[in-house]
Amino acid sequence: MGKKIFLTGAAGFIGFHVALALKNRGDEVVGLDNFNDYYSLHLKRQRASLLEAEGIEVIEGDINDPTLVDSIFKLHRFTDVCHLAAQAGVRYARSHPQAYLSSNIDGFLSLLQQLRSSPHVKLTYASSSSVYGLNTKTPFSESDPTDCPANLYAATKKANELMAFSYHHLYGIRMTGLRFFTVYGPWGRPDMAYFAFTKAILAKEPIHLFNRGEMERDFTYIDDIVRGTLAAIDYEGEYDLFNLGNHTPVALLDFVATLEKLLGQEARKVFEGESAGEVRCTYADITHAREKLGYTPRVDLEEGLTKFLDWYLKAAGSDSMISLATRL
Ligand SMILES: NC(=O)c1ccc[n+]([C@@H]2O[C@H](COP(=O)([O-])OP(=O)(O)OC[C@H]3O[C@@H](n4cnc5c(N)ncnc54)[C@H](O)[C@@H]3O)[C@@H](O)[C@H]2O)c1
Repeated sequence: MGKKIFLTGAAGFIGFHVALALKNRGDEVVGLDNFNDYYSLHLKRQRASLLEAEGIEVIEGDINDPTLVDSIFKLHRFTDVCHLAAQAGVRYARSHPQAYLSSNIDGFLSLLQQLRSSPHVKLTYASSSSVYGLNTKTPFSESDPTDCPANLYAATKKANELMAFSYHHLYGIRMTGLRFFTVYGPWGRPDMAYFAFTKAILAKEPIHLFNRGEMERDFTYIDDIVRGTLAAIDYEGEYDLFNLGNHTPVALLDFVATLEKLLGQEARKVFEGESAGEVRCTYADITHAREKLGYTPRVDLEEGLTKFLDWYLKAAGSDSMISLATRL
């Protein structure tokens, strides 16, 4: 029998793709999103319209609204919650710290409180590679300490993992946390470098490379993340945490060179100094996810970026999505 899943952050990048994949395999999905204006609302509305067209309801509301969430739970007999709603982004936390406490801490608590009255419902939730913070040992393993978050976003994700553990311990709720590593792909987030760089290169505007470009990221294609997330939802474990990355860190300058090659245009690179809060390298050890979830990333950077660019160029040509997309 298919599952019935409450999916938060359904109008977001990863939520949109996960919702479609769940529906396609025969699960029932009820989505929630507060449609905040952190980035283009037009993009979020477009994703939600596509989900609605596939028969996936996306309720407009906040995870911090317990009356609303309780009424949704009363209406549906959920087997699972997939919690992807959050205030994402590292730099935005400097100017809007409260948004992180509200969505990532209060919102997470609100959801955990809801699950106390339905402890049979399993929670799969998004953490982040950013919990590894200032660690220098690579690849990052789930057994490494995560006590030095480099920014407030990372601190809230680490807090989520601790809160999840306590609610599992106290109330027996099954929990699986997913540490996503730099996810990219079609319908992606305009605030992320791959998206903003593409826009800038096509507009012949400069791109700014922090830490003089000396950074590495374990870019992970959205379809791999979706496969890992679905496997985590199906995972029978009581409490666990998994890295979902590509296990292949790419130097920022190599990343830009790939983008230049695929776009057939050279980037105007401006090298900037350190950006406080940005870590030098992310690199996922995926042994645990491979063993327990059967997770094996399949899409390399060039193939994934090609798919992203196919979508981006079509979207830019077909409507005003891209020009509206980046307000950051
Ligand atoms: N994209 C990545 O590279 C990446 C990496 C690590 C972790 N993550 C985590 O994965 C999850 C999904 O990320 P994404 O890239 O899809 O981000 P996203 O911003 O596209 O999606 C998050 C969605 O949650 C919604 N939301 C935010 N606060 C809410 C609230 N209080 N109530 C209801 N809805 C709310 C937003 O409107 C948005 O549509 C997040 O938890 C994020 O922190 C993402």
